[in-house]
Amino acid sequence: MENGVKLISGALVTLAIATVSLVVLPYLQLQDVPPTPGLKPYTEVELRGRQEYIKQGCLYCHSQQPRDPRQAPDDQRGWGRPSVAGDYYYDRPHLLGTMRTGPDLLNIGARQSSVDWQLGHLYQPRAYVPGSIMPGYPYLFEIKEAAAPGDRIVTLPPEFAPARGVVVATQAAEDLVSYLLSLDRTFPALAAGADSRRATN
Ligand code: HEC
Repeated sequence: MENGVKLISGALVTLAIATVSLVVLPYLQLQDVPPTPGLKPYTEVELRGRQEYIKQGCLYCHSQQPRDPRQAPDDQRGWGRPSVAGDYYYDRPHLLGTMRTGPDLLNIGARQSSVDWQLGHLYQPRAYVPGSIMPGYPYLFEIKEAAAPGDRIVTLPPEFAPARGVVVATQAAEDLVSYLLSLDRTFPALAAGADSRRATN
């Protein structure tokens, strides 16, 4: 019985230490971090696209957290400055991701702002990046005989275009691309995080 008490109290102490250091302290530290100056809330369309990003599992291959040069050469890879807490102010849930099968996407909107490229790459990544291992998402597009008024036609290199008809983006594909283009945290972060808390207090 004595050992049982030791075991249980040991487990409780370990759990308490973990909860304080991993939940309580980070919460106290980050609870009133303001948005990084320049960060805009997502629009309705971008939020719908964000849901699509979650639904399609883009998160499983793409992170959204460029790292500090001391941790990884993300800046040299062109993925942008290290992110700060204020960059995620409007992100619920955050989509930091842990896998980097593909590039980090927190600044993809600044890096590749062409809607045509983004739509075509989603339809068939290999049309733009030979040998890409990213899956295509053709079910987010429709192949039509002819485009109707208001349809967003996807321009593709001829060898990837269907033999007949045109490729038209669905609303989901358009929303997803709006979300991707909104991913741009290239504005300076100097005043963000701990520093801006000092500055605004
Ligand atoms: C199985 C892993 C995987 C999944 C799932 C995946 N991607 Fe990718 N993605 C990659 C790889 C690998 C690349 C690099 C090659 C390329 O550009 O096609 C890439 C590249 C990209 C790029 C271009 C990045 C750049 O810096 O040029 C974008 C944008 C992108 N993916 C968006 C998405 C979106 C949106 C989804 C979900 C609909 C998604 N990816 C799902 C692996 C993945």
